[in-house]
Amino acid sequence: MKLIHTLFKRNLLIFLFLISLISFSSLSVSKHNAVVVTRHHLATEVGSKILQDGGNAFDAAISVAFALAVVNPSAGNIGGGGFALLYDANKKTIESIDYRERAPIKAKENMFLDENGNVIKGLSTSSFLASGIPGTVDGMYKIHKKYGSFPISKLISPAIDLAEKGFTLSKFQANYFNKNRDKFSKNPETKKIFVKKDMWKKGDLFKQKDLAKTLKRISNFGRDEFYSGETAKKIINYYKKNGGIFTQNDFLNYQSKFKPPLCTTFIDYDICSMSLPSSGGIVLSQSLNILENFDLSSYGHDSLEYNRLLTEAMRFSFADRSEFLGDADFNNFDISKITSKKYAKTLASIIKSSKSKVAIDSPGKYFNESEETTHFSIIDSNGNAVSNTYTLNTAYGSGIIAKGTGILMNNEMDDFSIKPGFPNFFGLVGSEANKVESKKAPLSSMTPTIVFQEGKPFLITGSPGGSTIISTVLQLLLNVLIFDMEIDEASKAKRIHHQWKPDVLFIENEKYLKDIDELSFDTIYRERIGETHSILFHENRYEGFADLRRPDGKAISVH
Ligand code: GLY
Repeated sequence: MKLIHTLFKRNLLIFLFLISLISFSSLSVSKHNAVVVTRHHLATEVGSKILQDGGNAFDAAISVAFALAVVNPSAGNIGGGGFALLYDANKKTIESIDYRERAPIKAKENMFLDENGNVIKGLSTSSFLASGIPGTVDGMYKIHKKYGSFPISKLISPAIDLAEKGFTLSKFQANYFNKNRDKFSKNPETKKIFVKKDMWKKGDLFKQKDLAKTLKRISNFGRDEFYSGETAKKIINYYKKNGGIFTQNDFLNYQSKFKPPLCTTFIDYDICSMSLPSSGGIVLSQSLNILENFDLSSYGHDSLEYNRLLTEAMRFSFADRSEFLGDADFNNFDISKITSKKYAKTLASIIKSSKSKVAIDSPGKYFNESEETTHFSIIDSNGNAVSNTYTLNTAYGSGIIAKGTGILMNNEMDDFSIKPGFPNFFGLVGSEANKVESKKAPLSSMTPTIVFQEGKPFLITGSPGGSTIISTVLQLLLNVLIFDMEIDEASKAKRIHHQWKPDVLFIENEKYLKDIDELSFDTIYRERIGETHSILFHENRYEGFADLRRPDGKAISVH
C-alpha cells in the first residue's frame, strides 16, 4: 500500500507535525494536456496563455489569482485571503499554503457586541472592523518564490492590463453590480468605481484605474509594497480615519504559511484537502470516513437512503465543526479525534441502526477517547497541480475600498464566532474554539482538494458557497468516485446540504422534498448549492469543467 496509507494508520497528528511535505511513492507522470478552469473566462485565458508560453501550473495559478481580482471582484481579490493545495509532480510532494486573513492585533472577543452583550448588526460584515489583514499578495509571492518559473512581473501583467484597459461586462456581472448598488454606495470610493448612474449593462467596458496603479506598484516593488509600502499606508490611514483598528504592525507581521495538507484515504484513492484554519478538509474527511462504512454504490444517486446517509454524515461532521474547530495556533484540540476511521465507524453504526433522522444534541458525545468565494483548478503538462480557493467572504467583501487603492476589502471577521451560538452570515454557529482573538485566523470552510489515484492527480476540485463548500466538494467526489460520473455530469448533478444548525436540509431538487420530509428532516429548496471548477483524469487526458450554476466560467485545455 502507498506510503500515505501506512502513515495515516499510525497517527495522523504525529504525521502532520513531523513532516511538512507528503511524498507519494508513485510512478512518474508522463506528459499530457494541461487544463485551467476558473470562474471567469478571461482569467482562464490568462492562465492558459501562461501555460502555452511554457510557465508551470504555479505560475498560471499566480497569474489567475491576480487576474480574478480584476475580472471577478466579488470574490477574486488582493484584499482577502485563501488556501491552495500545491502538487509538485517532479518531487511528488503535496503541501498547502494558508494565506487566510488574520484578525488585527487590537481585535477583541467582544468587539462586535454592545454593552449588553448583543451582536451589533452589520459590524462584522460591512464596517471598518469587518476586515482581517489580507493574505493573498503574501501567499502568491510565497508560492512564486518556491515554485514559480517566470518573473512575477510577467504573471501580474495581465491583471494590470485588464484593470487599466478594462474588460466588457457579461449580463450576469452587470446585473450583479446593479444588485449590489446599495452596498457599494455606502463607501464613496466603492461607489465611484462600482456604481453607474444609469445602471450597468451587458457589454459595458469596466475599468479600474486605481487598482491598476496598485497592481503596478506591487509588480515593481514586490510583496513588501502591500505590507509596508504606499499601499499599506493608504489602507491603514484610511481605516484609522474611519474608526478601524488596523496598525502598521498588523501589516508588517502578516505571514502566510506552508502547511501539510489534511489527507485521508477513501476506497482506493488518497484525498488531500485543507486543514485548519479551514474546517474544509476535516469535515470532508470525517464525512467520507463515515460514508466509507456503507455500500453506497448499491443505492441510486437519487435514492432516499443515499440522501439520508449523506445528510447524516454532513450533520455529524458539521456538528463537530461547530463545537471543536478554530485556528490551531490558538486551540490544542486533537483533530485526529474526529478524523479517525474508528470514530467514523461509531457514527456510521448509529446512522445504520436508525431509519430516520438521528438526534445530535451534543456533538462529540460519541468520542471514545458566502455564498461568495471563488475556486480555480490547474494542471500543467508535467502533472504539477494547483487547487486554489480564495475569497473576500461575502460578495464584494465589506464593500469598502481604501481610498486610492481600488482594493475591495474582505469581511472575514464574520467567520469568527462573534458570540457563542450566534449564527454568522452562513448560519454557522461556533464555540470558544473560534472566538475572536488578536492575530487569530477565523475558521473557514474552504476546501481546495486534490484526489490521487496511484499517486497521480486524478481529480482537482473546490467550490465557493460558505458552509456549502464542503458538502459541494463531498458530493462532487462521491459522484465521481462512487457513481462513476464524468466531470460534467458530476458537476451538474443536484446537491443537498445540511450543516447541523440550522436544523434544515437544503435541497436543489424540488422533486425530492416530499420524500425526504418523510424522514422528518425539515427541507428548504435552494436554487443553487456551490459551484465547482474541476479537472478529472479520464481516458488518458485531463478534462476540465466549469459549473453551469452561474455563467461566465470556462475550462481551457492546452496541448
Ligand atoms: N468566508 C468563507 C469561508 O472561509 O468559509
